[in-house]
Amino acid sequence: MNEEDEAAVSDRLRWGVLSTANIGRAAVNPAIQASRNGVLNAVASRDRDRAEAFAREHGIPRSHGSYEALIEDPEIDALYVPLPNSMHRDWVIHALRAGKHVLCEKPLALGATDCMEMAAAAVESGVKLMEAFMYRFHPRTEQVIEMVRNGQIGEVGAVRSTFTFRLRSPDNIRLDPSLGGGALMDVGCYCVNVSRTMVGEEPHAVQASARWTDRGVDEMLAGVLHFPGGAVAHFDCALTMERCERYEVAGSDGYLDVDRAFLPGTEDVVIREVRGRDRTRHAVGGDDEYRLMVEHFADCALHDRPVRYPVSEAAANLRTIEALYRSARRGGGIEPVE
Ligand SMILES: NC(=O)c1ccc[n+]([C@@H]2O[C@H](COP(=O)([O-])OP(=O)(O)OC[C@H]3O[C@@H](n4cnc5c(N)ncnc54)[C@H](OP(=O)(O)O)[C@@H]3O)[C@@H](O)[C@H]2O)c1
Repeated sequence: MNEEDEAAVSDRLRWGVLSTANIGRAAVNPAIQASRNGVLNAVASRDRDRAEAFAREHGIPRSHGSYEALIEDPEIDALYVPLPNSMHRDWVIHALRAGKHVLCEKPLALGATDCMEMAAAAVESGVKLMEAFMYRFHPRTEQVIEMVRNGQIGEVGAVRSTFTFRLRSPDNIRLDPSLGGGALMDVGCYCVNVSRTMVGEEPHAVQASARWTDRGVDEMLAGVLHFPGGAVAHFDCALTMERCERYEVAGSDGYLDVDRAFLPGTEDVVIREVRGRDRTRHAVGGDDEYRLMVEHFADCALHDRPVRYPVSEAAANLRTIEALYRSARRGGGIEPVE
Protein backbone atom coordinates (compact mmCIF):
# COMPACT_ATOMS: atom_id res chain seq x y z
CA MET A 1 0.00 0.00 0.00
CA ASN A 2 1.52 3.37 -0.94
CA GLU A 3 1.44 6.41 1.36
CA GLU A 4 -1.55 7.95 -0.38
CA ASP A 5 -3.59 4.75 0.03
CA GLU A 6 -2.57 4.50 3.69
CA ALA A 7 -3.66 8.09 4.31
CA ALA A 8 -6.94 7.42 2.54
CA VAL A 9 -7.58 4.38 4.76
CA SER A 10 -6.75 6.25 7.97
CA ASP A 11 -9.33 8.88 6.96
CA ARG A 12 -11.98 6.20 6.99
CA LEU A 13 -14.17 5.22 9.90
CA ARG A 14 -13.36 1.67 11.04
CA TRP A 15 -16.70 -0.10 11.52
CA GLY A 16 -17.68 -3.29 13.29
CA VAL A 17 -21.10 -4.92 13.04
CA LEU A 18 -22.67 -6.36 16.16
CA SER A 19 -24.33 -9.63 15.04
CA THR A 20 -24.90 -11.50 11.82
CA ALA A 21 -28.38 -9.96 11.37
CA ASN A 22 -30.19 -10.18 8.03
CA ILE A 23 -30.44 -6.43 7.57
CA GLY A 24 -26.69 -6.09 8.03
CA ARG A 25 -25.98 -8.87 5.55
CA ALA A 26 -28.50 -7.66 2.97
CA ALA A 27 -28.13 -3.87 3.10
CA VAL A 28 -26.06 -2.05 5.69
CA ASN A 29 -22.81 -4.06 5.68
CA PRO A 30 -22.49 -3.81 1.87
CA ALA A 31 -23.31 -0.09 2.16
CA ILE A 32 -20.44 0.39 4.62
CA GLN A 33 -18.15 -1.60 2.32
CA ALA A 34 -19.18 0.62 -0.63
CA SER A 35 -18.94 3.87 1.33
CA ARG A 36 -16.35 6.55 0.49
CA ASN A 37 -15.36 7.11 4.14
CA GLY A 38 -15.72 3.78 5.95
CA VAL A 39 -14.32 0.27 6.13
CA LEU A 40 -16.03 -2.76 7.65
CA ASN A 41 -13.27 -4.37 9.70
CA ALA A 42 -15.03 -6.83 12.00
CA VAL A 43 -18.22 -8.74 12.79
CA ALA A 44 -19.28 -10.30 16.09
CA SER A 45 -21.75 -13.06 16.80
CA ARG A 46 -22.88 -14.91 19.91
CA ASP A 47 -21.47 -17.93 18.11
CA ARG A 48 -17.79 -17.93 17.11
CA ASP A 49 -18.23 -20.29 14.13
CA ARG A 50 -21.11 -18.18 12.80
CA ALA A 51 -19.01 -15.04 13.09
CA GLU A 52 -16.09 -16.66 11.26
CA ALA A 53 -18.24 -18.05 8.46
CA PHE A 54 -20.03 -14.69 8.05
CA ALA A 55 -16.72 -12.81 7.90
CA ARG A 56 -15.34 -15.22 5.30
CA GLU A 57 -18.45 -15.09 3.16
CA HIS A 58 -18.73 -11.29 3.18
CA GLY A 59 -15.06 -10.27 2.95
CA ILE A 60 -14.86 -8.87 6.51
CA PRO A 61 -11.26 -9.10 7.78
CA ARG A 62 -11.89 -10.07 11.41
CA SER A 63 -14.51 -11.82 13.52
CA HIS A 64 -15.29 -12.08 17.22
CA GLY A 65 -17.12 -14.83 19.10
CA SER A 66 -18.80 -12.38 21.50
CA TYR A 67 -20.28 -8.90 21.38
CA GLU A 68 -18.00 -7.81 24.27
CA ALA A 69 -14.89 -8.70 22.25
CA LEU A 70 -15.98 -6.46 19.37
CA ILE A 71 -16.88 -3.61 21.72
CA GLU A 72 -13.39 -3.85 23.28
CA ASP A 73 -11.62 -4.14 19.90
CA PRO A 74 -9.17 -1.18 19.72
CA GLU A 75 -9.12 -1.36 15.89
CA ILE A 76 -12.78 -0.36 15.71
CA ASP A 77 -14.11 3.23 15.89
CA ALA A 78 -17.82 2.69 15.32
CA LEU A 79 -20.42 -0.03 15.67
CA TYR A 80 -23.47 -0.72 13.58
CA VAL A 81 -26.02 -2.42 15.88
CA PRO A 82 -28.77 -4.50 14.21
CA LEU A 83 -29.80 -6.53 17.27
CA PRO A 84 -33.41 -7.35 18.19
CA ASN A 85 -35.12 -4.18 19.48
CA SER A 86 -35.14 -5.18 23.16
CA MET A 87 -31.34 -5.54 23.12
CA HIS A 88 -30.53 -2.12 21.63
CA ARG A 89 -30.44 -0.12 24.86
CA ASP A 90 -27.99 -2.19 26.91
CA TRP A 91 -25.56 -3.08 24.12
CA VAL A 92 -25.54 0.45 22.74
CA ILE A 93 -24.84 1.96 26.16
CA HIS A 94 -22.08 -0.63 26.68
CA ALA A 95 -20.50 0.31 23.33
CA LEU A 96 -20.84 4.06 23.91
CA ARG A 97 -19.16 3.74 27.32
CA ALA A 98 -16.29 1.90 25.62
CA GLY A 99 -15.84 4.99 23.42
CA LYS A 100 -17.38 3.65 20.20
CA HIS A 101 -19.64 5.69 17.95
CA VAL A 102 -22.91 3.83 17.38
CA LEU A 103 -25.35 3.69 14.49
CA CYS A 104 -28.24 1.63 15.89
CA GLU A 105 -31.18 0.12 14.06
CA LYS A 106 -34.69 1.50 14.38
CA PRO A 107 -36.44 1.74 16.72
CA LEU A 108 -33.52 3.01 18.79
CA ALA A 109 -34.96 1.47 21.98
CA LEU A 110 -38.23 0.24 23.46
CA GLY A 111 -39.15 3.69 24.78
CA ALA A 112 -38.23 7.35 25.01
CA THR A 113 -36.70 7.14 28.49
CA ASP A 114 -34.21 4.52 27.29
CA CYS A 115 -33.31 6.78 24.35
CA MET A 116 -32.45 9.64 26.65
CA GLU A 117 -30.22 7.37 28.78
CA MET A 118 -28.46 6.29 25.60
CA ALA A 119 -28.06 9.93 24.56
CA ALA A 120 -26.52 10.76 27.94
CA ALA A 121 -24.02 7.90 27.58
CA ALA A 122 -22.99 9.23 24.15
CA VAL A 123 -22.50 12.74 25.50
CA GLU A 124 -20.45 11.48 28.47
CA SER A 125 -18.14 9.54 26.14
CA GLY A 126 -17.97 12.27 23.49
CA VAL A 127 -19.14 9.93 20.71
CA LYS A 128 -21.95 9.95 18.14
CA LEU A 129 -25.21 8.01 18.34
CA MET A 130 -27.89 7.91 15.64
CA GLU A 131 -30.95 5.82 14.82
CA ALA A 132 -30.70 4.10 11.43
CA PHE A 133 -33.89 5.34 9.70
CA MET A 134 -32.30 5.16 6.26
CA TYR A 135 -35.24 6.42 4.14
CA ARG A 136 -34.60 9.98 5.40
CA PHE A 137 -31.28 10.04 3.53
CA HIS A 138 -32.75 9.19 0.15
CA PRO A 139 -32.84 12.21 -2.21
CA ARG A 140 -36.54 11.67 -2.89
CA THR A 141 -37.43 11.97 0.82
CA GLU A 142 -35.31 15.12 1.02
CA GLN A 143 -37.14 16.54 -1.99
CA VAL A 144 -40.58 15.80 -0.52
CA ILE A 145 -39.58 17.51 2.74
CA GLU A 146 -38.34 20.53 0.79
CA MET A 147 -41.55 20.75 -1.29
CA VAL A 148 -43.70 20.55 1.84
CA ARG A 149 -41.59 23.11 3.72
CA ASN A 150 -41.66 25.47 0.72
CA GLY A 151 -45.45 25.46 0.82
CA GLN A 152 -45.87 23.74 -2.54
CA ILE A 153 -49.09 22.03 -1.39
CA GLY A 154 -50.19 24.83 0.94
CA GLU A 155 -50.88 24.15 4.60
CA VAL A 156 -50.45 20.47 5.54
CA GLY A 157 -53.74 19.07 6.83
CA ALA A 158 -53.17 15.31 6.75
CA VAL A 159 -50.56 12.63 6.24
CA ARG A 160 -51.79 9.17 5.20
CA SER A 161 -49.29 6.35 5.33
CA THR A 162 -48.94 2.59 5.33
CA PHE A 163 -46.17 0.04 5.72
CA THR A 164 -47.23 -3.60 5.56
CA PHE A 165 -45.62 -6.88 4.59
CA ARG A 166 -46.27 -10.55 5.15
CA LEU A 167 -43.98 -12.30 7.58
CA ARG A 168 -43.62 -15.97 6.72
CA SER A 169 -41.50 -17.41 9.53
CA PRO A 170 -43.13 -18.01 12.95
CA ASP A 171 -39.65 -17.84 14.56
CA ASN A 172 -39.01 -14.28 13.44
CA ILE A 173 -37.86 -11.80 16.11
CA ARG A 174 -40.79 -9.54 15.11
CA LEU A 175 -43.29 -12.01 16.60
CA ASP A 176 -41.49 -12.30 19.95
CA PRO A 177 -42.79 -9.91 22.60
CA SER A 178 -39.68 -10.40 24.74
CA LEU A 179 -37.51 -9.10 21.85
CA GLY A 180 -39.57 -5.96 21.24
CA GLY A 181 -41.60 -7.38 18.34
CA GLY A 182 -44.76 -6.03 16.77
CA ALA A 183 -45.89 -4.30 13.58
CA LEU A 184 -45.74 -0.81 15.08
CA MET A 185 -42.20 -1.31 16.39
CA ASP A 186 -41.05 -2.86 13.12
CA VAL A 187 -42.73 -0.92 10.31
CA GLY A 188 -45.32 1.41 11.83
CA CYS A 189 -42.41 3.35 13.30
CA TYR A 190 -41.72 4.58 9.72
CA CYS A 191 -45.30 5.84 9.38
CA VAL A 192 -45.03 7.67 12.69
CA ASN A 193 -41.70 9.11 11.63
CA VAL A 194 -42.84 10.34 8.22
CA SER A 195 -46.05 11.79 9.72
CA ARG A 196 -44.18 13.82 12.36
CA THR A 197 -41.61 14.90 9.77
CA MET A 198 -44.12 16.09 7.18
CA VAL A 199 -46.40 17.88 9.63
CA GLY A 200 -43.34 19.47 11.26
CA GLU A 201 -44.78 19.23 14.79
CA GLU A 202 -45.04 16.65 17.56
CA PRO A 203 -48.48 15.06 18.02
CA HIS A 204 -50.13 15.88 21.33
CA ALA A 205 -52.60 12.97 21.28
CA VAL A 206 -53.08 9.66 19.48
CA GLN A 207 -55.55 6.79 19.02
CA ALA A 208 -54.88 3.22 17.90
CA SER A 209 -56.52 -0.10 17.30
CA ALA A 210 -54.58 -3.36 16.98
CA ARG A 211 -54.97 -7.02 16.24
CA TRP A 212 -52.79 -9.03 18.62
CA THR A 213 -51.19 -12.45 18.22
CA ASP A 214 -51.63 -15.14 20.87
CA ARG A 215 -48.21 -14.16 22.19
CA GLY A 216 -49.33 -10.55 22.56
CA VAL A 217 -47.60 -8.67 19.75
CA ASP A 218 -49.52 -6.41 17.37
CA GLU A 219 -49.60 -8.13 13.99
CA MET A 220 -51.64 -5.20 12.66
CA LEU A 221 -52.16 -1.73 14.02
CA ALA A 222 -53.97 1.34 12.72
CA GLY A 223 -53.37 4.70 14.33
CA VAL A 224 -54.27 8.37 14.29
CA LEU A 225 -51.95 11.21 15.35
CA HIS A 226 -53.46 14.57 16.35
CA PHE A 227 -51.19 17.60 16.00
CA PRO A 228 -51.49 20.87 17.93
CA GLY A 229 -51.85 22.94 14.73
CA GLY A 230 -54.93 20.92 13.70
CA ALA A 231 -53.31 18.48 11.25
CA VAL A 232 -53.97 14.75 11.57
CA ALA A 233 -52.03 11.73 10.40
CA HIS A 234 -53.45 8.26 9.98
CA PHE A 235 -51.62 5.09 9.17
CA ASP A 236 -51.73 1.32 9.24
CA CYS A 237 -48.98 -1.22 9.57
CA ALA A 238 -48.96 -5.01 9.54
CA LEU A 239 -46.83 -8.14 9.53
CA THR A 240 -49.64 -10.10 7.85
CA MET A 241 -50.48 -8.26 4.62
CA GLU A 242 -49.08 -7.95 1.13
CA ARG A 243 -46.17 -5.54 0.96
CA CYS A 244 -47.19 -1.91 0.61
CA GLU A 245 -45.20 1.16 1.62
CA ARG A 246 -46.56 4.56 0.68
CA TYR A 247 -47.57 7.92 2.03
CA GLU A 248 -49.49 10.99 0.95
CA VAL A 249 -49.03 14.49 2.29
CA ALA A 250 -52.26 16.44 1.78
CA GLY A 251 -52.35 20.21 1.92
CA SER A 252 -54.77 23.07 1.29
CA ASP A 253 -53.55 23.49 -2.33
CA GLY A 254 -52.65 19.95 -3.41
CA TYR A 255 -51.15 16.69 -2.34
CA LEU A 256 -48.02 14.62 -2.83
CA ASP A 257 -48.24 10.88 -3.35
CA VAL A 258 -45.14 8.78 -2.68
CA ASP A 259 -44.92 5.04 -3.20
CA ARG A 260 -42.05 2.64 -2.50
CA ALA A 261 -41.87 5.16 0.27
CA PHE A 262 -39.38 3.79 2.75
CA LEU A 263 -37.10 1.69 0.55
CA PRO A 264 -36.95 3.70 -2.68
CA GLY A 265 -33.48 2.35 -3.55
CA THR A 266 -31.25 2.91 -6.52
CA GLU A 267 -33.81 2.94 -9.34
CA ASP A 268 -35.36 6.24 -10.40
CA VAL A 269 -38.52 7.08 -8.45
CA VAL A 270 -41.26 9.69 -8.63
CA ILE A 271 -43.21 12.11 -6.49
CA ARG A 272 -46.75 12.51 -7.83
CA GLU A 273 -48.15 15.97 -7.25
CA VAL A 274 -51.87 16.58 -7.61
CA ARG A 275 -53.47 20.04 -7.72
CA GLY A 276 -57.06 20.08 -8.85
CA ARG A 277 -56.99 18.44 -12.28
CA ASP A 278 -53.25 18.90 -12.73
CA ARG A 279 -51.06 15.89 -12.13
CA THR A 280 -47.28 16.25 -12.22
CA ARG A 281 -44.73 13.47 -11.94
CA HIS A 282 -41.49 14.71 -10.43
CA ALA A 283 -38.77 12.19 -11.31
CA VAL A 284 -35.95 11.74 -8.80
CA GLY A 285 -32.77 9.77 -9.46
CA GLY A 286 -32.37 6.71 -7.27
CA ASP A 287 -29.60 6.18 -4.75
CA ASP A 288 -28.64 3.80 -1.97
CA GLU A 289 -30.24 5.30 1.16
CA TYR A 290 -28.18 2.94 3.35
CA ARG A 291 -24.87 4.10 1.88
CA LEU A 292 -25.90 7.76 2.14
CA MET A 293 -26.79 7.21 5.80
CA VAL A 294 -23.54 5.46 6.76
CA GLU A 295 -21.49 8.06 4.88
CA HIS A 296 -23.27 10.88 6.73
CA PHE A 297 -22.69 9.13 10.07
CA ALA A 298 -19.01 8.49 9.29
CA ASP A 299 -18.50 12.15 8.30
CA CYS A 300 -19.97 13.23 11.64
CA ALA A 301 -17.85 10.77 13.61
CA LEU A 302 -14.62 11.55 11.75
CA HIS A 303 -15.02 15.34 11.83
CA ASP A 304 -16.91 15.68 15.11
CA ARG A 305 -20.01 17.20 13.52
CA PRO A 306 -23.54 16.84 14.91
CA VAL A 307 -25.58 14.08 13.28
CA ARG A 308 -28.54 15.24 11.20
CA TYR A 309 -31.05 13.32 13.34
CA PRO A 310 -30.24 13.60 17.07
CA VAL A 311 -31.41 11.08 19.66
CA SER A 312 -34.13 13.50 20.80
CA GLU A 313 -35.78 12.84 17.42
CA ALA A 314 -35.73 9.06 18.05
CA ALA A 315 -37.11 9.68 21.55
CA ALA A 316 -39.98 11.78 20.14
CA ASN A 317 -40.87 8.98 17.71
CA LEU A 318 -40.89 6.46 20.56
CA ARG A 319 -42.93 8.74 22.81
CA THR A 320 -45.62 8.69 20.10
CA ILE A 321 -45.29 4.91 19.67
CA GLU A 322 -45.67 4.37 23.41
CA ALA A 323 -48.87 6.46 23.42
CA LEU A 324 -50.22 4.50 20.42
CA TYR A 325 -49.65 1.22 22.28
CA ARG A 326 -51.36 2.61 25.39
CA SER A 327 -54.38 3.58 23.30
CA ALA A 328 -54.52 0.21 21.49
CA ARG A 329 -54.33 -1.69 24.80
CA ARG A 330 -57.05 0.46 26.35
CA GLY A 331 -59.51 -0.02 23.51
CA GLY A 332 -58.66 2.81 21.12
CA GLY A 333 -59.45 5.94 23.13
CA ILE A 334 -57.53 9.19 22.83
CA GLU A 335 -54.19 9.09 24.68
CA PRO A 336 -52.00 12.10 25.33
CA VAL A 337 -48.41 11.90 24.10
CA GLU A 338 -46.45 12.43 27.28
N1 LIG B 1 -33.47 -0.20 8.47
C1 LIG B 1 -33.96 -1.28 7.87
O1 LIG B 1 -34.16 -1.32 6.66
C2 LIG B 1 -34.24 -2.50 8.69
C3 LIG B 1 -34.71 -3.65 8.06
C4 LIG B 1 -34.86 -4.81 8.82
C5 LIG B 1 -34.61 -4.77 10.18
N2 LIG B 1 -34.21 -3.62 10.79
C6 LIG B 1 -33.91 -3.60 12.23
O2 LIG B 1 -32.71 -4.33 12.42
C7 LIG B 1 -32.75 -5.08 13.62
C8 LIG B 1 -32.49 -6.54 13.29
O3 LIG B 1 -33.48 -7.02 12.39
P1 LIG B 1 -33.19 -8.31 11.46
O4 LIG B 1 -34.43 -8.66 10.77
O5 LIG B 1 -31.97 -8.10 10.64
O6 LIG B 1 -32.93 -9.40 12.60
P2 LIG B 1 -32.31 -10.86 12.53
O7 LIG B 1 -31.94 -11.22 11.15
O8 LIG B 1 -33.21 -11.75 13.29
O9 LIG B 1 -30.94 -10.66 13.31
C9 LIG B 1 -30.84 -10.31 14.64
C10 LIG B 1 -29.46 -10.78 15.11
O10 LIG B 1 -29.36 -10.51 16.50
C11 LIG B 1 -28.59 -11.52 17.12
N3 LIG B 1 -29.30 -11.95 18.32
C12 LIG B 1 -28.87 -11.79 19.59
N4 LIG B 1 -29.74 -12.29 20.45
C13 LIG B 1 -30.77 -12.79 19.73
C14 LIG B 1 -31.98 -13.45 20.08
N5 LIG B 1 -32.32 -13.70 21.36
N6 LIG B 1 -32.79 -13.83 19.08
C15 LIG B 1 -32.49 -13.56 17.80
N7 LIG B 1 -31.35 -12.94 17.41
C16 LIG B 1 -30.50 -12.56 18.38
C17 LIG B 1 -28.36 -12.63 16.12
O11 LIG B 1 -27.01 -12.56 15.69
P3 LIG B 1 -25.85 -13.54 16.18
O12 LIG B 1 -26.48 -14.88 16.36
O13 LIG B 1 -24.88 -13.46 15.10
O14 LIG B 1 -25.31 -13.00 17.47
C18 LIG B 1 -29.26 -12.30 14.95
O15 LIG B 1 -28.66 -12.59 13.72
C19 LIG B 1 -34.10 -4.76 14.26
O16 LIG B 1 -33.93 -3.70 15.17
C20 LIG B 1 -34.95 -4.29 13.09
O17 LIG B 1 -35.96 -3.37 13.48
C21 LIG B 1 -34.01 -2.50 10.05
